[in-house]
Amino acid sequence: MAKKPTTTLPGTTDRRIDALLTLLAENTTIVISGAKIAKEIGVSRQVVWSWIQKLRELGVRVKGHPHSGYHIERTPDILLPQLLSHRLYGMPFARRIFHFFKTDSTNTVAMHLGEQGEPHGAIVIAEEQTAGRGRAGRSWIAEKSAGITCSILLRPQIPPAYAPLLTLVAGLAARDASAEELTAIPDIRWPNDLLVDGKKFCGILTEMHAEPDRIHYAVIGIGINVNQTKMPADLADIATSLRIETGKTHSRLELLIRLLRYLDRYYNQFLAEGAAPILRRFSEVSTYFEGKRVQITTSAETFTGTTAGLEPSGVLRVARDDGRGVEAVLSGDVGEIA
Ligand code: BTN
Repeated sequence: MAKKPTTTLPGTTDRRIDALLTLLAENTTIVISGAKIAKEIGVSRQVVWSWIQKLRELGVRVKGHPHSGYHIERTPDILLPQLLSHRLYGMPFARRIFHFFKTDSTNTVAMHLGEQGEPHGAIVIAEEQTAGRGRAGRSWIAEKSAGITCSILLRPQIPPAYAPLLTLVAGLAARDASAEELTAIPDIRWPNDLLVDGKKFCGILTEMHAEPDRIHYAVIGIGINVNQTKMPADLADIATSLRIETGKTHSRLELLIRLLRYLDRYYNQFLAEGAAPILRRFSEVSTYFEGKRVQITTSAETFTGTTAGLEPSGVLRVARDDGRGVEAVLSGDVGEIA
């Protein structure tokens, strides 16, 4: 029997704070009285005041006018559900949005939601993760509210063997969304690390719960370094952010909206037309598609070779240097070699 979707999730941002901020963000040119805000969101004026303090602590510049009320000068860059859903109206990815100021990992939350019967398209967003997870058991560390950390729950009706294509779909969406923020052209290192000038600014972790013949649910976790002004010393040579690359701040809200729109487009194209347009697009935008000298590290071995396109399932083909033919790499770390 199908499980009922979760109605509330502990730790998510109070819907009324979301409503308060949306009200202020959508009326940036006027001062709204505390009494009016209180009435609209259904709390006392005292509570409005205390939440305004909380928003200020989070860096939202709310101006208080002694006798008339509150106003903000510009839309804050917090990824709140109402701000997103107003802009993504009618899309499956806007129906259920779970926002956290802080959680362990959005992928962990989304996998839990999948288990609980949450419908296709739910999104989990965090301003801060305390145990962000990367591929191959690594961790994903991102400064609070500087990047995008989100996970999308999908219920694709495809055989698990085609799951690598979902990973490509997400990579293409993140690539196209980010390309509009950059002057340099971003690259995709198979399967879906996004690089600019050879440094990584976005990583994607796909996890799923499946049987041999069907996927129950898949979670696509996307981390994008957006407004970080510097990377931790041990990552500075290999990682970057959009801000470091362009020298300016970027709206996380606009980037996430664009990302979800591209994801919706690529995902539907994949369901309607199959793998071909996804593989073709990957070949156009990734220098790793063909002819790239690489070192591959899988759980079983490390070897070198030259990339030789993708299998119809999205798996990477690598012509091995050791003469053992072309290897189909299902998962592993890919590094460019000079
Ligand atoms: C990688 O390149 O190793 C993948 C990194 C994926 C990070 C994202 S951030 C949002 C989501 N939640 C997680 O815990 N991980 C993914």
